[in-house]
Amino acid sequence: MAELSEQKVIVTGAARGIGRAIAEKFGRAGADVGLLDLEPDVLEETASALADETGANFTPLAADVTDPEAVESAFSDWRGEHDVIHTLVNNAGITKDGLMLRQKKSDWDAVLNVNLSGAYNCVQAALKPMMKERWGRIIMVSSVIGLQGNAGQTNYAASKAGLIGLTKSVARELAGRNITCNAVAPGFIRTKMTEQLPEEQQEEIREITPLERFGEPEEVADCILFLAGKNSAFITGEVIRIDGGLAM
Ligand SMILES: NC(=O)c1ccc[n+]([C@@H]2O[C@H](COP(=O)([O-])OP(=O)(O)OC[C@H]3O[C@@H](n4cnc5c(N)ncnc54)[C@H](O)[C@@H]3O)[C@@H](O)[C@H]2O)c1
Repeated sequence: MAELSEQKVIVTGAARGIGRAIAEKFGRAGADVGLLDLEPDVLEETASALADETGANFTPLAADVTDPEAVESAFSDWRGEHDVIHTLVNNAGITKDGLMLRQKKSDWDAVLNVNLSGAYNCVQAALKPMMKERWGRIIMVSSVIGLQGNAGQTNYAASKAGLIGLTKSVARELAGRNITCNAVAPGFIRTKMTEQLPEEQQEEIREITPLERFGEPEEVADCILFLAGKNSAFITGEVIRIDGGLAM
């Protein structure tokens, strides 16, 4: 079984926010980490900053998760260097909020494409190497919004609920190959995505969260490292909320 210190890990949406925190924690645990995100320059900067901070190896993998050929090519570059993929974290995600009545079809498509089809593309690219290895961990970053729904976020909620269905089905299909698939469902976490919310909405969120605060990206990363490690070997098809009690 791959110890975290021996793992080869790919994290999508890794240039900032929760993805960067996940990549950093894997690096500190001694893993080699592929950082997949959109902008090559930003990725290069992130990879070199993370390497300085942690002393670990970070490989920039520039690709748009919505483009299956770009994903396949990034994963194949990774395999050229590292051969295996032990853990895949599907974290890349976007929001394009708006009430259903006025929602543009293009905003629906964009969110479903990145958040759900993007994860599909990455799972497709990771499965064969994981099956060859007879070991794998796939972790989806869903959201409490996928569990509860939210006015103004029909597209986002549908994409995040879809990820949960994908997680459970992949878990059932691949369990026999010793590949587990789990999801985390963060509540409100302090990143660029939530910084955009108006201050009064941020205050409301703190009020309705039993632990009365936003979570930190590192708190999501800790749970993901647990799901990638040897102490979670008997957990598959699970969804773990990291939400300060918001959606219980
Ligand atoms: N911040 C929260 O409160 C919160 C709560 C629940 C779930 N999440 C989920 O956590 C994940 C990370 O969120 P975050 O807050 O760090 O967001 P963020 O906007 O700070 O970071 C998202 C990253 O994904 C990348 N990305 C976007 N589209 C991409 C694409 N097509 N291909 C490759 N990379 C792409 C972005 O470039 C960015 O680096 C998302 O899936 C989000 O839905 C966040």
